[in-house]
Amino acid sequence: MNSQNWVWLTLILTRVCALATAQNYNCFNNGNYTSNTTYSNNLNTLLSSLSPNLNDTGFYSASSSGGQPDRAYATAVCRTDIQLDTCRTCVQNGTVELLGLCPYQKQAILWREFCTIRYSDEPVFGIRADSPAVLLRNTMNASGAAQFKEDLRTLIDDLRSQAASGGSLVKVAAGNISGPDFQTIFGMLQCSPDLSADDCDGCLISAAQYIPGCCDGSRGVRILAPSCNLRYEISPYYNITRIRQVQQIVSPPVAAPPPPPPPPSTPSPTTDDDMSTAESLQYDLGRIRVATDDFSDANKLGEGGFGIVYKGKLQNGQEIAVKRLSRNSGQGDVEFKNEVLLVAKLQHRNLVRLLGFSIEGTERLLVYEFVRNASLDLFIFDPTRRTSMDWDRRYKIIGGIAKGLLYLHEDSRFRIIHRDLKASNILLDGDMNPKIADFGMARLFRPEESEGNTSRIAGTYGYMAPEYAMHGQFSVKSDVFSFGVLVLEIITGQKNTAFRNEDNNVEDMLSCVWRNWREGRSINVVDPVLRSGSGSVRDMLRCIHIGLLCVQENAVDRPTMASIVLMLHSLSITLQMPSEPAFFMSSRSGQETPLLHHKVDSSESELTRSLEAKFGQYSSESDLYPR
Ligand SMILES: *[C@@H]1O[C@H](CO)[C@@H](O)[C@H](O)[C@H]1NC(C)=O
Ligand SMILES: *[C@@H]1O[C@H](CO)[C@@H](O)[C@H](O)[C@H]1NC(C)=O
Ligand SMILES: *[C@@H]1O[C@H](CO)[C@@H](O)[C@H](O)[C@H]1NC(C)=O
Ligand SMILES: *[C@@H]1O[C@H](CO)[C@@H](O)[C@H](O)[C@H]1NC(C)=O
Ligand SMILES: *[C@@H]1O[C@H](CO)[C@@H](O)[C@H](O)[C@H]1NC(C)=O
Ligand SMILES: *[C@@H]1O[C@H](CO)[C@@H](O)[C@H](O)[C@H]1NC(C)=O
Ligand SMILES: *[C@@H]1O[C@H](CO)[C@@H](O)[C@H](O)[C@H]1NC(C)=O
Ligand SMILES: *[C@@H]1O[C@H](CO)[C@@H](O)[C@H](O)[C@H]1NC(C)=O
Ligand SMILES: *[C@@H]1O[C@H](CO)[C@@H](O)[C@H](O)[C@H]1NC(C)=O
Repeated sequence: MNSQNWVWLTLILTRVCALATAQNYNCFNNGNYTSNTTYSNNLNTLLSSLSPNLNDTGFYSASSSGGQPDRAYATAVCRTDIQLDTCRTCVQNGTVELLGLCPYQKQAILWREFCTIRYSDEPVFGIRADSPAVLLRNTMNASGAAQFKEDLRTLIDDLRSQAASGGSLVKVAAGNISGPDFQTIFGMLQCSPDLSADDCDGCLISAAQYIPGCCDGSRGVRILAPSCNLRYEISPYYNITRIRQVQQIVSPPVAAPPPPPPPPSTPSPTTDDDMSTAESLQYDLGRIRVATDDFSDANKLGEGGFGIVYKGKLQNGQEIAVKRLSRNSGQGDVEFKNEVLLVAKLQHRNLVRLLGFSIEGTERLLVYEFVRNASLDLFIFDPTRRTSMDWDRRYKIIGGIAKGLLYLHEDSRFRIIHRDLKASNILLDGDMNPKIADFGMARLFRPEESEGNTSRIAGTYGYMAPEYAMHGQFSVKSDVFSFGVLVLEIITGQKNTAFRNEDNNVEDMLSCVWRNWREGRSINVVDPVLRSGSGSVRDMLRCIHIGLLCVQENAVDRPTMASIVLMLHSLSITLQMPSEPAFFMSSRSGQETPLLHHKVDSSESELTRSLEAKFGQYSSESDLYPR
């Protein structure tokens, strides 16, 4: 890429807390393949087919033959404003380059000046991916910073909706706006056209959210994500003529508008399309009974607040986890299906995937992908297994959770607040990648309470933000609080509810971490397993610092997940100084009580007492879902 004024800031989201390095590709590190295997041959054939199949739309996506694990998927997207031959050369050279950069990696992505190339052993078509992202900024600042930012935002908002409303062949928008001091800002936003309009919009929103953290005031920025990219400059850099030309090719202007579709006879909450998808997500109860050996005890995986989870194996060999919902939620069948549909659309590597549902009579089941290595708490809190959890592994887990949570929070279509993030809700796949579980449950059961205030507090002691525990106020920032507690648990290797300090005395985890951090001795709280390992101490301390920022008492002082992801991945970003976190008080016996140690006024103490009564009924392990 061009001049020396540009700085690469790479977010390698699998390497949390890692130093920003200058690279325009990502090898994901999600597993290797062997040469001369079916996957290898499929991949090579597929990649060489990309360039010749590209046409003026600058987009091509395909997959090889075969089922998993042999099937390869790939996508190439060119900048819409370049000529077809430039696009083909970019992809042709890029595929060769990528195979060289990421030898034998099952998944990889490369961003070049004119094209993005991605391949995977998992489907990519139509699946939105906001990360990993690469940021590139001009180190020169624009003048009139405040006004510039405002004008830039106007431009981006305008272009974003234009790009998202593009058709299934091209999703792009370019334009300019007058800025302060006679500057003109030129922007171009593009999505992979296989995304839905909402996903395109969401991807661009999350791309734009990087700007304040990385590049505020810069006179030029590029943000490259797998599914979308955004760029602005203060000089014209795109070929608007070519963009118009391509738009004409894909949708020539029509002489007369087509007649409007007849209005539906009965108003329906979903479109036909959605309903047919709902049917395709429905599993026959009989099949599930067979798969789980009629919900046999031997197949029981665990029990959560909403029901018992069973392992199952479908006739085609696919392993599944089935949650048998324990009680009637008071939700109608149509509502339930709509909710399932919504949650099934949330697809991210770091979320446990909801495959479908089954509903018959009073029986309601949710069918999930099966995640091999159980939950994080069984590793980090187990004296033996903990030793296999080195820093690299924990680092990767922290990063994965952050990515999954960012996706839940920033997905444009509907913001999901998890409300019960904790170690036992983080599942680990066969490669120890984290997957957040139970994220749809709050929605499935309480659609009317997806954000705001609630009188029914569902969560787990020790992970709950004070404003949520005390007042039932939840927001993305209450999830950030839980994330902070989880990060500190991962680093210390101890449960927040049974924490012992460096002198082996019972102490509240947050106050112990804060005390040591303030005294410059954070290393004291790091799990001895990590201290004696080869992991970077600097990265551990930075993660502790980030954890403390997340557990600030005042929700507005806590960072968003977007800035946490940025902080985790770029050492060049200076972290704010945390102040004293919200402390929960532990009783002398070490048994937890849900008291906040300060600011308990009379009206709150009643609430606190009732909470205490509820907490008393549950062990620290169990979910708190007051009936
Ligand atoms: C995959 O290959 C890369 C490069 O050849 C290597 O660095 C990495 O350790 C391998 N990963 C696994 C899981 O074997
Ligand atoms: C690849 O595998 C085939 C059969 O499995 C074998 O005939 C061929 O020699 C192998 N090629 C290389 C380069 O190893
Ligand atoms: C370009 O290719 C896509 C499939 O990749 C196809 O749907 C589209 O019709 C083609 N457009 C043109 C203008 O050839
Ligand atoms: C593509 O590769 C060819 C041959 O390796 C090289 O001559 C050409 O300069 C490359 N073009 C681009 C745009 O990278
Ligand atoms: C650009 O502005 C940022 C603050 O917004 C400042 O930290 C940086 O030094 C400025 N860079 C230049 C080259 O003036
Ligand atoms: C800015 O955009 C307008 C259309 O909105 C266009 O007419 C004008 O030529 C553009 N200005 C430049 C300098 O490209
Ligand atoms: C811009 O696109 C048009 C239409 O394809 C083309 O004729 C022209 O040469 C392009 N301009 C540049 C500078 O590439
Ligand atoms: C995770 O699961 C895989 C596959 O079942 C297994 O081989 C591996 O040992 C497990 N990892 C750990 C750390 O237990
Ligand atoms: C939540 O309750 C608080 C007072 O307890 C009130 O100030 C706030 O406006 C409420 N928020 C919503 C979204 O209802």
